[in-house]
Amino acid sequence: MGINIKHQCSFPLVFLATATLLLAGQATATATATVSDLCAATEYKPLCRATLKGITDPNAAIEASINQVILKSKHAYFRSRTMGNDETTEICKEMYDDAITDLENSLKALKAKDKGTLDSNLSAAISYYSSCDDSYAEMGQESPFS
Ligand SMILES: *[C@@H]1O[C@H](CO)[C@@H](O)[C@H](O)[C@H]1NC(C)=O
Repeated sequence: MGINIKHQCSFPLVFLATATLLLAGQATATATATVSDLCAATEYKPLCRATLKGITDPNAAIEASINQVILKSKHAYFRSRTMGNDETTEICKEMYDDAITDLENSLKALKAKDKGTLDSNLSAAISYYSSCDDSYAEMGQESPFS
């Protein structure tokens, strides 16, 4: 999976990228990487380690990452409601809402060990966040996640 996250992207993308990295690690039969090794592979070592502090089980790490993003998405959703009603904010409010649904589906899929559903829901959520980050960046505004 080649997800490249730029520094100016919002935190949820970073956490989701971490989750997908963990997934990718699990998918590899030869993977012996620990959670801390996986953090070492990211550009966001401190963030990754802070989120996954003390967690060594990859499933628990993915769950912690997703929960973190759901929490941040809910904050962003409420914050975006106070940001006026320009077109970008309107579209992004819906996208955050959809992203939360996808993330909740991801958690269910994780518990059901349904990797395909987990992967597709996580990818969908990531694309919502990317679109909104891009839209806000194009308008020269900060995304409500920042
Ligand atoms: C997310 O998971 C649900 C099942 O919980 C599935 O019906 C839906 O198609 C998935 N969404 C995406 C974008 O893959």
